[in-house]
Amino acid sequence: MACKALMKFSPGTKALIQLIQTRTAQTAAAPVAKSEKKLKKFEIYRWNPDKPGDKPRVQTYQVDLNDCGPMVLDGLIKIKNEMDQTLTFRRSCREGICGSCAMNIDGTNTLACIYKINDSPSKPVKVYPLPHMYVVKDLVPDMSNFYAQYRSIEPYLKKKDVKESDIGKQSYLQSVEDRAKLDGLYECILCACCSTSCPSYWWNSDKYLGPAVLMQAYRWMIDSRDDFTEERLALMEDGYSVYRCHTIMNCTKTCPKGLNPGRAIGEIKKLMMSYNKQKAAH
Ligand code: SF4
Ligand code: SF4
Ligand code: FES
Repeated sequence: MACKALMKFSPGTKALIQLIQTRTAQTAAAPVAKSEKKLKKFEIYRWNPDKPGDKPRVQTYQVDLNDCGPMVLDGLIKIKNEMDQTLTFRRSCREGICGSCAMNIDGTNTLACIYKINDSPSKPVKVYPLPHMYVVKDLVPDMSNFYAQYRSIEPYLKKKDVKESDIGKQSYLQSVEDRAKLDGLYECILCACCSTSCPSYWWNSDKYLGPAVLMQAYRWMIDSRDDFTEERLALMEDGYSVYRCHTIMNCTKTCPKGLNPGRAIGEIKKLMMSYNKQKAAH
């Protein structure tokens, strides 16, 4: 039947078809090679406050890397799907945009979805919640204080001489140069990796705003369309909100988006100096 059908084609095409048929038959007959397992230890912080008497502990899982994506989040999802549904963590976008999978991996605050599983055969992957935060469960930190601090800086455009009822009726334009000043600031995804790597924030997170929130405060202070720079600075005059930063730069070192909150804090301190000078002159 196959030979009859082949008669319609030129000799060259027939040879090609026969070659493809032979290859297909060989592939179908070949035994499926079973790759060896490449097991990797995941050591994960566990704590369930809903379970009476449960104490924080580290639980170990073995993940076959031959059957797992390359990122730590892939490993966590595999563990949750196939081994232990009780493992709790946050994630959403899976591409470093939402900030929800921030955690401490192998000693670094980072995003699990863009952090590769380490390739050392003997080194386990160590996963903990963001440090010095209250824990809701397992790898989920309590972000309430962080979000309240973010809310406190009023992270939105504020105009003088615009009636409440007129807000949103027109665009507020800015020059290309002024827009460029926001680069490196607006990209922050508020993952809190920087703030939770800052020793000053660890000890004073009730009063010190921390690098993530301060960088966003600065982002609005220097926005050419915003009219409230002085009021924004005045809110930070106490000894804690900004001045607990001692320029250790852990924040900048850890930011998984490559931003520089340490520099932004330095710029706020400069603005604060001129603001105070102006105030003294009047
Ligand atoms: S500055 Fe970087 S580390 Fe800090 S919250 Fe923003 S994205 Fe996360
Ligand atoms: S530079 Fe400031 S905000 Fe950044 S880690 Fe150091 S003390 Fe914290
Ligand atoms: S899942 Fe959104 S940043 Fe990782």
